[in-house]
Amino acid sequence: AQQVPDILSPEFAADPYPAYRLMRDSRPLIWHEATQSYIISRYEDVERVFKDKSGQFSTDNYDWQIEPVHGRTILQLSGREHAVRRALVAPAFRGSDLQEKFLPVIERNSRELIDTFRHTGSADLVADYATRFPVNVIADMLGLDKADHARFHRWYTAVIAFLGNLSGDPEVAAAGERTRVEFAEYMLPIIRERRGNLGGDLLSTLCAAEVDGVRMSDEDIKAFCSLLLAAGGETTDKAIASIFANLLLHTDQLAAVRADRSLIPRAFAETLRYTPPVHMIMRQSTTEVTLSGGTVPPGATVTCLIGAANRDEKRYRDPDRFDIFRDDLTTTTAFSAAADHLAFALGRHFCVGALLARAEVETGVNQLLDAMPDLRLADGFDPVEQGVFTRGPQSLPVRFTP
Ligand code: HEM
Repeated sequence: AQQVPDILSPEFAADPYPAYRLMRDSRPLIWHEATQSYIISRYEDVERVFKDKSGQFSTDNYDWQIEPVHGRTILQLSGREHAVRRALVAPAFRGSDLQEKFLPVIERNSRELIDTFRHTGSADLVADYATRFPVNVIADMLGLDKADHARFHRWYTAVIAFLGNLSGDPEVAAAGERTRVEFAEYMLPIIRERRGNLGGDLLSTLCAAEVDGVRMSDEDIKAFCSLLLAAGGETTDKAIASIFANLLLHTDQLAAVRADRSLIPRAFAETLRYTPPVHMIMRQSTTEVTLSGGTVPPGATVTCLIGAANRDEKRYRDPDRFDIFRDDLTTTTAFSAAADHLAFALGRHFCVGALLARAEVETGVNQLLDAMPDLRLADGFDPVEQGVFTRGPQSLPVRFTP
């Protein structure tokens, strides 16, 4: 049998998709020494772990994965405690809050960035737009001072470096923990001040939220805001870069989207299936479980390969083809995206920000296509995806008539 490349090897990072196929075909459950985890790659296995209702899997792995940089967030919680904590934050990311309060923030922040390059005829859609837009949106939604956005970006960069620190570089780890301290020193006084001066921003909503008599402490709110940097920033950043990379490489589909903007949700869903921002999510087994015929002992870490499951040929026809018109794509409304791919996970921890992400991507694609009539990749440029846990194009130089 062909050897499956190690998930931490340069060969895998360069192009994980052939390795994903090998895993699904012949090694659907692999013990991986370096990450001390069992790796699963088939759609049905990953779906089962995410949808687990019987408590066979927990998110205790986040205690070591994210707690040092974010503190305690809803990702680490389970059961009733998670349900209440989630109900405290979820309404801010959907319905009238999203439509009336935050859509204007999204539109304004996108426009401001596009205005910095729309008259030049060229841009790097990653550096000039994607890496900035979602973080600016979060800072602005929280009602933070515009002058502080640069600091927010610095913390964002340190946080995602910490989360992606697979080799355990001590300097990156130390910078991540410093960020936790600096972020707390910055956020906690703002939270205390905001409690006495509530407005229409997200921070005020979090301060005022109450479910079953439970409210968020200053520390809870600070940890949630810190989580938003990574959960809402890096992911959406990569989704925007990837939707443009995919469309620019499939110019017929780009032309179709340009002509009919109601196709954007399909293009977004297909991008999240074909090139998900988050490729790997971990869980902890609480009991002995069987996956693809193999045994996982209790207390083991399970690495769920979203990037592999999303291309499972048992689930999708012609999975390695990017096709916004594929008929196994159902997305037209809100959360139906959950039926199309595993990029937002499923079950209890299903992405709280899915609708916000969609609103950001839809706004971004619409505004960029309007500003750049004959958008094309810079001559000879071939987008290169980078990353292992999270993935996306590292740069996307484009040309257009100003
Ligand atoms: C959870 C992906 C955008 C906030 C998740 C999870 C995934 C994910 C895979 C599940 C993690 C797990 O089960 O362990 C994505 C992708 C996005 C995106 C691909 C963009 C395309 C956002 C945005 C926000 C956000 C914009 C908010 C500003 C969250 C939060 C959770 C979460 C708070 C934790 C939910 C819980 O534990 O109940 N996201 N996300 N995400 N996401 Fe997103």
